[in-house]
Amino acid sequence: MSKLAILGGTPVRSKPLPTVNDKSGRNIGREELELLKSVVESGRLFRYSGKMVSSFEEEFAGFMGVKYAVASTSGTAALHIATGAAGLGPGMEVLTSPITDAGTIIAILGQNAIPVFADIDPDTYNMLPEDVERRISDKTKAIIVVHLFGLPADMDLIMELAEEKGLIVIEDCAQAYLAEYKGRLVGAIGDLGCFSLQQSKHMFTGDGGITVTNDEKLARKARLFMDKGWDRSLGLPRAYVMLGFNYRMTELQGAVARAQLKKVKWVVERRRAVAGSLTKRLSEIEGVSPPKVPKGYKHSYWLYPLKVELSMFSASLSDIAKAITAEGIPTGTGYIGKPIYMAPLFVEKRGYGASKCPWICPLYGKNINYGEGLCPKAEETLNTLLTLPCNEYFTEEDVEDIAKAVEKVLSYYRKR
Ligand SMILES: Cc1ncc(COP(=O)(O)O)c(C=O)c1O
Repeated sequence: MSKLAILGGTPVRSKPLPTVNDKSGRNIGREELELLKSVVESGRLFRYSGKMVSSFEEEFAGFMGVKYAVASTSGTAALHIATGAAGLGPGMEVLTSPITDAGTIIAILGQNAIPVFADIDPDTYNMLPEDVERRISDKTKAIIVVHLFGLPADMDLIMELAEEKGLIVIEDCAQAYLAEYKGRLVGAIGDLGCFSLQQSKHMFTGDGGITVTNDEKLARKARLFMDKGWDRSLGLPRAYVMLGFNYRMTELQGAVARAQLKKVKWVVERRRAVAGSLTKRLSEIEGVSPPKVPKGYKHSYWLYPLKVELSMFSASLSDIAKAITAEGIPTGTGYIGKPIYMAPLFVEKRGYGASKCPWICPLYGKNINYGEGLCPKAEETLNTLLTLPCNEYFTEEDVEDIAKAVEKVLSYYRKR
């Protein structure tokens, strides 16, 4: 058995893998530059002076097969626009996943609403509809479904539940461009769908976001919420008709976004091919579980999650990840580490100022606590989860190196 790189042996790979952090793993160049040039030459960088952002919105709505799209400054903004448009506010509870980026939760807290976490299915990493149902209360007004890593959540059951209880469904598709659930694109199934255009996403503008819907009223409110609540159609004097923020995308981002939109299908298709090869190779290794994609679902592989049966190995998850990284394959553990409700923000209820608002709020009138034990399956799952990169520019040779590094490290630590 060859010596592990972490112990001084030769790494499986010495050349860096293509990464989303620079040009090596990002399809960006001439097309973006051409559109950017036209924006700079026009001198119109503000979305309401030019046409890039509004064209991007139209094109994205067409791409998603929905009626309306509202662009914004980040995925977090796109989600906040959705919770704002949906009318969420103090005293209301919103069910969501404990394994997600802070942006999902900020959109809830940003409306002074209360996040309530439902446990996940350890096979898909997405919320378990039965657990969502169990945690619904008379204060629940919405569900934010996260399609984690690019795998759709079980939308039929969630939509049925929402219909029965009169809840709004917001889909967080930050990691799930072109992911499909039973022939439908995620983001177009719930009342509102939200996407991020941050650097690491399937399509990117550095930072950016977009919210989609088929509902005319929600679309109108989303647009107002994005633009300080200002109804520009009413002319002067300025009509500020609701509370909103300045989440306006600039024409520079709009230019890049339009060029990126033409490439995202290729990105997702390439990632599916790469992940397919990776799954084939990693399935041969005892003690790890590649992502399971239920029948009728299409994954878009923002990251490649790999679950490890730790009882079969004599090393911790973190030591395994460090050893694979030393072999030349950057490997993460537990995605966000622990379920998001274990962050000090929640455990200590650090809300607005020193008030502990929105948790301590007369409009809420309930006591909610966060901490270890809230979603046992999510906690257990993150303790056994490695995340491997999945990039559109990986070759078969890159995939082979990833598999070899995982194989090498796990055979070294395998209990005999
Ligand atoms: C699932 C999820 N939701 C929300 C966000 C927030 O997006 P942004 O970073 O663009 O604000 C992200 C970004 O990483 C995400 O992965």
